[in-house]
Amino acid sequence: MSQSRRFVKLLAYLRPHWGATTLGIIALLVVNVLGAYIPLLIRDCVGKLSENFDYGQIIRYFIILVSLSSSMWLIRMASRIWIFGVGRQVEFDLKQQIFEHLLKLEPSYFATNTTGDLISRATSDVDNIRRLLGFVVLSFANTIFAYALTLPIMFSLNLELAGLALIPYPIMFFMVLLFSERLRNQQTSVQENLSDISNLIQEDISGISLIKIYAQENNERRAFAKQNHKLLKANLKLAQTRNTLFPLIGGLANISTLIIIWIGASKIGSSIDVGDFVALLLYIERLIFPTALLGFTITAYQRGEVSVDRVESIFSAEPKIQDYSNAIQLSRETIKGELTAKNLTFTYPGAETPALDNVNFNINPGETIAIVGGIGSGKSTLANCLPRLLDIDKGELFLDGIDITEIALTDLRDAIAYVPQESFLFSTTIQNNIRYGDPFAEQQEVETAAELSQISSEITNLPQKYNTIVGERGITLSGGQRQRTALARAMLVNAPVLILDDALSSVDNQTATQILKNLSSGTKRKTVVFITHQLSAAAAADRILVMEKGKIVQTGTQTELLQQPGLYRDLWSQHQVEELLH
Ligand SMILES: Nc1ncnc2c1ncn2[C@@H]1O[C@H](COP(=O)(O)OP(=O)(O)OP(=O)(O)O)[C@@H](O)[C@H]1O
Ligand SMILES: [Mg+2]
Repeated sequence: MSQSRRFVKLLAYLRPHWGATTLGIIALLVVNVLGAYIPLLIRDCVGKLSENFDYGQIIRYFIILVSLSSSMWLIRMASRIWIFGVGRQVEFDLKQQIFEHLLKLEPSYFATNTTGDLISRATSDVDNIRRLLGFVVLSFANTIFAYALTLPIMFSLNLELAGLALIPYPIMFFMVLLFSERLRNQQTSVQENLSDISNLIQEDISGISLIKIYAQENNERRAFAKQNHKLLKANLKLAQTRNTLFPLIGGLANISTLIIIWIGASKIGSSIDVGDFVALLLYIERLIFPTALLGFTITAYQRGEVSVDRVESIFSAEPKIQDYSNAIQLSRETIKGELTAKNLTFTYPGAETPALDNVNFNINPGETIAIVGGIGSGKSTLANCLPRLLDIDKGELFLDGIDITEIALTDLRDAIAYVPQESFLFSTTIQNNIRYGDPFAEQQEVETAAELSQISSEITNLPQKYNTIVGERGITLSGGQRQRTALARAMLVNAPVLILDDALSSVDNQTATQILKNLSSGTKRKTVVFITHQLSAAAAADRILVMEKGKIVQTGTQTELLQQPGLYRDLWSQHQVEELLH
């Protein structure tokens, strides 16, 4: 991102909080005006006292100085509260916006962007932006005011001395320019390494059992140490640059004081009087602090800039799957549940062959359809297309005859309950997991959904029953229990279309068949798309679609399919052999 665009972005972050920012900056201006006035007061005091020493005079000046300094202190505090507060507000806004934006992005975005990287952008990078908009704004404004107010007074006090004292400043400016590119590159490298290490930690923690099963602790430790080392090196390099730059700037700023003392002292009495000399010294002192801090401010600024790029790259990812204008609104109650595919073709980005190749079918309302086929034949891809979790073209998939890309996304997903192949549970109670699609469902509805999914007796045997917490990703439940809890969640929402993607693979054939019967019972039949490798459960379906290499190669009832040679009959005989072996 270009420098000017970044700057516009920063202003955009500040815009909602312009009130507090302006107040903070005005307060800083007042502090600086007072600060610039104090040396003048001291100069007058010195002047008056050298003419005529008077205790009353000293006390008067003392009272004025103390009250000025205390008000400066109070106003400076207010300015910090306002400006740092803005930083915190922007941090809050950004975290919220990042989260909301991530919610809009399609699952494939998360396949290419890792969790650890996104977490590090939402935390560490947002933190850097907060510092930029708090500390850096405060420090830059303070420096600008200090210079703008101090320099004219210094020149009016003594042109020659002020000019000499400022000689080191252009050198300082040049040094800062020289170092800034390097600082930015090193900062980018630190942030990237930080992301990599968050990723590694995140991945290792989720795969901890696997690490132990394969006894890979030593390898993982080495891999972590390697990454940790890279981060250390990047941090040390950055620290080295900063540690060269900061003392250089501080040292150069101090040279100004030396110049004034060295040259100025010899001129006291001739071209400069004591009062002006003292005031000049005090003014140059006033410049040292903001100047020495410039190094910090610039690194904080660059760190923030790097982070602006990293955070903005999240926002620049446009959601690919969203409502078209004039999206059609549907209500769950009126949907019949007819599904049609017309030459549905889908190729994953970067893949050479399509995962779905000219798929055609028509599923009638209330029909239970089983989809079978070898691994990688495109079944899950098809299931993901139906609720538009994948970015499919127009005119290929229809719900009740309406192109699904024209239906409002929330209505489409409201109409389709989908149990994905990997059942995911949140780390909350079983009942909250079941209630996920309808948080206000009655307890009775939760229990009915659990009964239909054949999990209720197991839940009531748990110590806390429906209030048992399932642990992260449902770790405290067995695979089959997790699957049936995920199924109960889908049953609860009572959608007209239900898609089960191998959702009963960890459930025995008998229970699976019973669950299927439960699904198609009831007064208002759902359309059920049941993807499975369990052919005996599939036999209970009204029709079976057989998939191979992204195509539907056979369609028919179990009896019809068994009468003709083809993939289904082959799969069935293989299945019979497996049944015998068990
Ligand atoms: N996110 C993805 N990116 C790229 N290719 C993918 C992705 N997901 C699946 N594929 C590929 O698409 C093809 C179909 O995969 P899909 O998951 O639909 O198969 P499946 O029939 O569900 O298999 P299984 O029975 O093992 O679940 C496979 O060749 C797979 O490698
Ligand atoms: Mg699959």
